[in-house]
Amino acid sequence: MKTGLQLAIAGLGTVGAEVARQVISNNAHFQRQAGMAVTITAVSARDADKDRGFSMQGIQFCDNPLALASMDNVDVVVELIGGSDGVALDLVEAAIANGKHVITANKALLAHHGYMLAEKAEKAGVMLAAEASVAGGIPVLKTLRESLSGNQITRITGILNGTCNYILSTMQHQGRDFDDVLAEAQALGYAEADPSFDIDGVDAAHKLALLGAIGFGTAPSIGAVDVTGVRAITMTDMDNAQKLGCTIRLLAEAEKNTDGEVLMRVRPVIQPLDSQLAKIDGPLNAVTFTGEPIGAITAIGPGAGAGATASAVLADIVDLAVGRITPFFGIPASQLAAAPQRVAPQKEECYFIRLKVYDRPGVLADITTILKDHAISVESLLQSGRSDDGENGDVPVILTTHEVPPQAITAAIAELTELPTVLAEPVILTMGHA
Ligand code: HSE
Repeated sequence: MKTGLQLAIAGLGTVGAEVARQVISNNAHFQRQAGMAVTITAVSARDADKDRGFSMQGIQFCDNPLALASMDNVDVVVELIGGSDGVALDLVEAAIANGKHVITANKALLAHHGYMLAEKAEKAGVMLAAEASVAGGIPVLKTLRESLSGNQITRITGILNGTCNYILSTMQHQGRDFDDVLAEAQALGYAEADPSFDIDGVDAAHKLALLGAIGFGTAPSIGAVDVTGVRAITMTDMDNAQKLGCTIRLLAEAEKNTDGEVLMRVRPVIQPLDSQLAKIDGPLNAVTFTGEPIGAITAIGPGAGAGATASAVLADIVDLAVGRITPFFGIPASQLAAAPQRVAPQKEECYFIRLKVYDRPGVLADITTILKDHAISVESLLQSGRSDDGENGDVPVILTTHEVPPQAITAAIAELTELPTVLAEPVILTMGHA
């Protein structure tokens, strides 16, 4: 590295192209921060000829990204291809095996294979860094791993998916339908290549698994995260949430209980409008770490998009250049505790339930009988309007409950779903707190 740091970038999509543009156009600044020359010597992408807003002069183009892992004039492979397996995994493994440092934004890869890759990187004496993998431009991994390293972390909560947050907050403020706003989020470059990872909560789960691993010192476990996404949320839900003085946000939570078990879940939550989370709009992310002795600390910032994500990649490049190299999980992978298992939630919570039902006499009675059988107390119930098709048409029934054990709500929902007058899978949202 005496001649400077030589980068190879695999993947020139939204983020990869922005990283290249920044390294090239702000090179003097970069060189000052890094204390050495930083150059891009090679790239790989699907389309060699596409104009990405930077000059390819002096940069070797490789059709096969795996070639980057064995080039002599490459010190660090910046993996921005994505995906938990396949080329991204092969490239990162090959780079580490060849003694190259690896910087990636790939949370899926690390949530699934992070333990193995960190162990290999530590044995090979190379850096594995991925600040961009969680919460885009907010330096949450660094904060948790370094600034909060003296704390016993007990809880990590937050909004970890910019696409979902953009969709939900735009529905809230503009009254537009889910699909319409999703298309916009994709066009703005927030969404994953496969947006189902965003809207089904998988992307947030990957990020939560990594935060949980670093915060609680365990191997990452994507299987331990209970995930519900936002695909089922409609403007009916958003309108009713607003009637209750609330909105909807996709919340990720990881919590260590007194038995040392780690409960991790991603789910849409009805959030009071005056709460901090309800004010997180657009592609912003927000992450709160709770621990001893600090109490709670919240970081808010851009969680998706080219600039935010590139910013985190650039910081990893500078860290590498100046020798700020830490194990990816804060402690060596070999010292991590076993990956947590899925834990059933125990805490009583209030719920918002939307049912699509026939508009007929007796339907509400059937519903409330089931709720009574499970000792579920209703706080509010709303069925308004009339279907154009009369008793053969459907209407939404919205109800909220007092505090209920999670097992009771699960059992009641299973029975409600079986009623012949209930026409679709119920939508269940937890009522969040201020
Ligand atoms: N697709 C992600 C999001 C951005 O919407 O938050 C990259 O992590």
